[in-house]
Amino acid sequence: MCDNSGHLPVLPNQVCDLLDPQQGDVIVDLTAGRGGHAELLAKRAGENATVILFDLDAENLQFATSRLEKLGISVESHHESFVTAASTLTRAGIQAHCVLADLGFSSNQMDDPIRGFSFGSDGPLDMRLDSSKGTTAADLVNSLSEKELADTIYFLGEEPYSRRIAQKITLERQEKPILHTARLAQLVRDAYGARAHSSRLHPATRTFMALRIAVNAELDALDALLLDVETGGRKVDSGGWLHPTAKIAVISFHSLEDRRVKQSFVALEKSELAKRLTRKPIRATDEEKSFNPRSRPAKLRVVQLGS
Ligand SMILES: C[S@@+](CC[C@H](N)C(=O)[O-])C[C@H]1O[C@@H](n2cnc3c(N)ncnc32)[C@H](O)[C@@H]1O
Repeated sequence: MCDNSGHLPVLPNQVCDLLDPQQGDVIVDLTAGRGGHAELLAKRAGENATVILFDLDAENLQFATSRLEKLGISVESHHESFVTAASTLTRAGIQAHCVLADLGFSSNQMDDPIRGFSFGSDGPLDMRLDSSKGTTAADLVNSLSEKELADTIYFLGEEPYSRRIAQKITLERQEKPILHTARLAQLVRDAYGARAHSSRLHPATRTFMALRIAVNAELDALDALLLDVETGGRKVDSGGWLHPTAKIAVISFHSLEDRRVKQSFVALEKSELAKRLTRKPIRATDEEKSFNPRSRPAKLRVVQLGS
């Protein structure tokens, strides 16, 4: 379910309560999406907050920017990966008080068949968050070796039938390239065979997730961000991108992401650079899960710099 922006922010109250933005704060939303979280955080901070937005998706970034501008909120936008956010902010001499990364993709991206994220409707096998450049899912599906495909689907999708699926894909693409989501979804279903009937998830769920993560190098981006948080935490007194008491919140949607965030935040605390504001990840309430099913796997972790 969505509001009229096409995406409902997950864990909205928990994000605002834990980041707790104050008047005059610099709020950095590294994954602006449709601007839902950014709007709530800016409103919570009051009049003098500055919001800085990053997103790989030009259309989402534009939407979020005008959403905030219409409310009279001071906003600055960057069409770039959050991988470069630390250097962009450092160059500009800006220190963030509140940082949010709500990982993955937004509902409107998922729901648009042209973007190729969904096996529910047919479209080009694209899956790029930034559709202006880079390798598409079709490029990967039609060029990786059978072993590379199997490893991608296994390690990034945790798909137990990865080898069988990779074998099916490499066999079928000899006939003609696999360019559409519906064909790939059908091939995965065929590879599952009779097991498809007993599978709780659609058989293509994990394969599509693995390809999306690979296309957008999502785990590399998260690793780079977590390193930038650590480096920023060490440099607070010498012009780093993070304010000495900055709060950083990350919302992840699968275990490969959450494990990284957890380990990084524990390490920050051990080195006395930060303290964790969430010992355990914050999850959606049953009520939120019922009106926003996207929130079901969401896990929120927050740290604050300073020990
Ligand atoms: C879950 S949505 C964010 C939704 C947002 N919090 C809201 O309330 O509307 C994730 C967004 O992050 C963007 N994104 C994903 N990886 C990114 C990256 N490495 N750098 C910048 N943006 C990224 C996606 O394009 C998408 O718009």
